[in-house]
Amino acid sequence: MIGEKLTSRSNWHPLGRRLLVIALMASEMFGATNGDSLASKCVNPVYGALTCSTSSCHGGAAEKSRQHVIWSQRDVHSRSFATLGTARSARMAEALGIKDPLTDQRCTTCHAPIATVETGLVMPGAKASEGVSCVSCHGPLEGWLRNHTRPDYTHADRVAAGMRDLRDLNARANACVACHQNIDPALVNVGRHPALTFELDGQTQEQPKHWREPEGRSGAQAWFVGQAVAWREMSWGLRNGHLDTQRELPRWRALGWLIHRAEFDRKPDGFGWEFQEVTPTHLALAEENARQLARRGADTWTPENTIRVLAKLANTSADFRAASPSLLQASRAERLVLAFDRLLAALPPDPRKPEASSQLDRLFRLAQSIPDFSPSDFARELDIFAQKLKPLLN
Ligand code: HEC
Ligand code: HEC
Ligand code: HEC
Repeated sequence: MIGEKLTSRSNWHPLGRRLLVIALMASEMFGATNGDSLASKCVNPVYGALTCSTSSCHGGAAEKSRQHVIWSQRDVHSRSFATLGTARSARMAEALGIKDPLTDQRCTTCHAPIATVETGLVMPGAKASEGVSCVSCHGPLEGWLRNHTRPDYTHADRVAAGMRDLRDLNARANACVACHQNIDPALVNVGRHPALTFELDGQTQEQPKHWREPEGRSGAQAWFVGQAVAWREMSWGLRNGHLDTQRELPRWRALGWLIHRAEFDRKPDGFGWEFQEVTPTHLALAEENARQLARRGADTWTPENTIRVLAKLANTSADFRAASPSLLQASRAERLVLAFDRLLAALPPDPRKPEASSQLDRLFRLAQSIPDFSPSDFARELDIFAQKLKPLLN
């Protein structure tokens, strides 16, 4: 198995995904296993962004109405259709035997969702070239378009009329994960599409914000909810044969391990990640447990949870000293360093933070290469990290 090098932590910033995404690049060893597209999992966008862009609505210059400007000028989602027209996409398409990536559902389902909607539901003027637009995240707008501008119309009214409640982290994670976690293995194995890894906190930070988060919301909470939702999505994908088992099963186990160790309020039951044979029943159970965890994470989070979770995760060196397949250990390490990155960032400023942070850099370096991963070296440095973290957790 070929493990691609992880980038260093500094390359990894401004946050998020790259590092995980390349965890285990597909190797030709596994050929195409599943031609099923995941179209049905992507959100169902009705109508286009055009209607939202007038200057009196979301297309103005004032802070309260700049959403369309921010999205169209700075957010990669507005360019996701254009990506399908690049040379890289042409190469992918060629490898996959796709004639035109700009119109093929195997690409448009995530890069240009409007192309996958029945024409009758698309607003006149709206085009697939909008890419991932307002309705892809906020939900089809037929129910709320007419009324949502009324001054007496509250957020709750809009949600009741069918707008997705993206203020709720669980609902938000569910919106993003549809396009950001599971991908047809052939696209990765044959087409060399980046493997996808969903991580809500990092990816939320990376998306140019056209909104304000509620006061005092912790990135750690978004991180936790996102991990649970990613795990649920992976469980679903594995159970339904949508994923490359050889690549995804170790990642699934690693994430199950992490969530289990991180659990902030009580010991979760029946996870299944620890079993040698993972059956569809385990996966279904994992899905349900992950769903509940995500819900709890979104409903209840306190700054103490961040501290508790960090302390628990820093205390896992025994797991790296126990006998386990090295691929699994490497996948755990990878998940763990990314978790530390987000959780450390969520702690209040402290002059002792840089020391813990530079020890985390060491851990990142050790987790960099899957073939060379040494669980015992990692365990040793993890203990040192735990020591440096301690004063920050009091
Ligand atoms: C309808 C599918 C879809 C939905 C829903 C979606 N995205 Fe994306 N996202 C994409 C695609 C496609 C790209 C790649 C764009 C490109 O470069 O062409 C992308 C790219 C990104 C990127 C930059 C690349 C990366 O992975 O870091 C970020 C950050 C991101 N999305 C965050 C989010 C967040 C946060 C949400 C939920 C609030 C979300 N996305 C919802 C399809 C989607
Ligand atoms: C399941 C949703 C999904 C499908 C289906 C999908 N993509 Fe993507 N694509 C993404 C996301 C999300 C990203 C951003 C990932 C990242 O940057 O790590 C992305 C990134 C890319 C990139 C890299 C963009 C960059 O600048 O880094 C290219 C090229 C691309 N996709 C082309 C395609 C093509 C061609 C197809 C069809 C053969 C396709 N995608 C199908 C979700 C999808
Ligand atoms: C990739 C996902 C995504 C896309 C695309 C997107 N949004 Fe959002 N939007 C969000 C998230 C997440 C929030 C934060 C939750 C909230 O405040 O409701 C948000 C918040 C908002 C808000 C509330 C602002 C506030 O501060 O309360 C408005 C208005 C909005 N978006 C309009 C738009 C418009 C108009 C478009 C298209 C031009 C758009 N959004 C495209 C994800 C998205």
